[in-house]
Amino acid sequence: MLKKAVSGIETGSLMLSALQGKKTVRPPFWLMRQAGRYLPEYRELRSQAGSFLDLCFNPKLAMEVTLQPLRRFDMDAAILFSDILVIPFALGQSLAFEAGEGPRLGTLDIASIENALSGVSGKLSPVLETVSRTRQALDPGKVLIGFAGSPWTVACYMIEGRGSSQGFLKTKQFALENPKDHSRLMACLTEATIDYLSAQIKAGADAVQLFDSWAGLCQGRSFETNIIEPTRQIVRELKIRHPHTPIIGFPRQAGGNYAAYARLTGVDALGLDTDVSLEQAATLQKEIPVQGNLDPEVLLRGGDGLERTAKSILAALAGGPFIFNLGHGIIKETPPEHVALLANIIKGWRHAG
Ligand code: CP3
Repeated sequence: MLKKAVSGIETGSLMLSALQGKKTVRPPFWLMRQAGRYLPEYRELRSQAGSFLDLCFNPKLAMEVTLQPLRRFDMDAAILFSDILVIPFALGQSLAFEAGEGPRLGTLDIASIENALSGVSGKLSPVLETVSRTRQALDPGKVLIGFAGSPWTVACYMIEGRGSSQGFLKTKQFALENPKDHSRLMACLTEATIDYLSAQIKAGADAVQLFDSWAGLCQGRSFETNIIEPTRQIVRELKIRHPHTPIIGFPRQAGGNYAAYARLTGVDALGLDTDVSLEQAATLQKEIPVQGNLDPEVLLRGGDGLERTAKSILAALAGGPFIFNLGHGIIKETPPEHVALLANIIKGWRHAG
């Protein structure tokens, strides 16, 4: 139940209020990659679990890791501990995370992926169990965020077979040279994402985020077909099945395409990366609640610079529906004390007037 303060500003679940487009007494906050290697207690559990994927598929440990950052910093939301690449894994593409090397995926076979489509949520049942256990363990006032990668970003890893420092050239080439296979793959990923996110919501996720980390590689027509259209389909279908569950879209580095994404996809809130200026952010916020966009490098450095930058973001955006977050994931060398300092700055924020 949301409580209404005398002033008309919501003081109940800050996160849900902001997602519903309401101004909150202070902005809610959570941080992308808030569970992870910068926390000693994560590194400890991670070494007990075996591989990173073993950790993702161990509901007891994955729940523990999901809750770790909230115990330290009391964020307003927990994000499910898993990875966007569990979808290719569930579709039968082999996946391994080599220490210090990032993900490695096996050969892509579209026909076998189509055949595996109906089994995705079943294969990901340990992750769904993490969702339901975490929802039960979590303070009722906190929001549990489920997530998936968006079809384009997941396709990038599936086609390339790994991360890319050169802008996923192989993926772009594949899309141009094999348009039919590319659309078959995108259609599979769209369907798998709908099923998987719907299953997360049924298991207890209060909101979901779509990570489109490589949206910035698409421009013009390609942005429409690879980013807007699949997102629109996912949102439309999820809204039929779960009309009250907010959806956050994060089309990283979408630049001038952010406004079209906000207008055309139907997402409830927009995740902003660090390239978005506060002026552009404030303009977008007139149309849709925004989330972001502190530079993870500023958090890494800490000190006065962190305080100054965080306060300028608050001054620009906390007057409207706003969720404080980073513009991308926490850098693993970040001292946890810097996150504690940031949490204090946000929690100490109050509206003038
Ligand atoms: O705390 C959270 O945010 C929840 C968990 C989460 C992880 N990955 C855990 C993780 C989430 C939401 C993700 C999303 C994700 N995964 C994205 C989208 C966001 C982004 O960063 O752009 C992407 C592109 C991936 C794919 C991925 N997973 C890569 C490229 C890597 C290797 C690079 C790296 O940071 O190690 C991962 C591994 C990964 N995912 C780790 C964690 C905590 C590190 C694994 C370890 O512990 O060794």
